Amino acid sequence: MSLLPRRPSSRTGGTDDVRPTDGSPGQDEAAGPLLRGVDLHKAFGSTAALEGASFSVSPGEIVAVMGPSGSGKSTLLHCLAGIVPPDRGSVTFDGRDVAALSDAERGALRRSAFGFVFQFGQLVPELSCRENVALPLRLNGVRRKDAERRADEWLERLEVAGVARQTPGRVSGGQGQRVAVARALATEPRVLFADEPTGALDSLNGERVMELLSGAARETGAAVVLVTHEARVAAYSDREVVVRDGRTRTTEVVA
Ligand SMILES: Nc1ncnc2c1ncn2[C@@H]1O[C@H](COP(=O)(O)OP(=O)(O)OP(=O)(O)O)[C@@H](O)[C@H]1O
Ligand SMILES: [Mg+2]
Repeated sequence: MSLLPRRPSSRTGGTDDVRPTDGSPGQDEAAGPLLRGVDLHKAFGSTAALEGASFSVSPGEIVAVMGPSGSGKSTLLHCLAGIVPPDRGSVTFDGRDVAALSDAERGALRRSAFGFVFQFGQLVPELSCRENVALPLRLNGVRRKDAERRADEWLERLEVAGVARQTPGRVSGGQGQRVAVARALATEPRVLFADEPTGALDSLNGERVMELLSGAARETGAAVVLVTHEARVAAYSDREVVVRDGRTRTTEVVA
C-alpha cells in the first residue's frame, strides 16, 4: 500500500478560534492510517450487513467506498464513524479503540473530529444556511460571532455565499449540498464521512460539489470516506474500496 504525500494543513479561521481537539496531538506527523476498521461484522436481525469488512484511510487521503445497493457501504461508514457498533471487529481512530470509549466520549469525537455529509443535506429547516453551518461550531463552544464569520467563509468557499440568509427550503438541491459540505468542513474535521453526497444531484451539480468537497478536504488535510455508486464521483478519490456482500475488496490506485 502506498502512502500519499502529506498535504499541508492550512486551517482557516482566526487565531481566536477554538480548534476542536480529540485530545491526542501530533497525529498529523505520524505515518499510517488515521482511521482503521478491521474484520467488521454487523447483522441486523437475520440480515448480515457486514461479514468481515476492513478499511483504512490516512490523513489527507480520499477513499471511495463502492459497491452495489445493499452491499453494506453505509453500514461500514456508520461503524467507522462510531454511529453503529459492530458485532465483531475493531475500529481505531488515531490509535484509539472507538468501542472502548464511553458514549459521551464517542459523541465528543464525532462532534470534534468527524464531519458528515449525507445524500439529502439534512440541514435544519428552521435555521438559515449560515446558522446551519455555524451550528456544529457553536456546539463545539465557538462564540456566535466567530461561528457566523467562519460559516460565511465556508459558504463563500463553497460558492454559496448568496444563500447565507435563506432557509434550506428556499435553495436548490445543489446549493443545499454545498451548504451541507460547508457545515461538515467548518469544524475542520480530521475525517469527513460522505454517504452518496451527490446522489440527489444532476451530474453537473454533482461534479461541482465533488470538486469543491475534494478541493476543500485536500486543503484542510482531512481524510475522506466517500460512499458512492458512481464511478464519476469515485474519480475524485485516491483509492477505491469495493464492498460486496458485506466484504471489502481493495483496488490500488497509483497516485
Ligand atoms: N438499520 C437497519 N435495520 C435492518 N437492516 C438494515 C439496517 N441497515 C442496513 N440494513 C441492511 O443491511 C444491508 C446493508 O445495508 P447498507 O445500507 O449498508 O447498504 P448500502 O450498500 O449502503 O446500500 P445503498 O447503496 O442502497 O445505500 C442491507 O441488506 C440492508 O437492508
Ligand atoms: Mg447506503
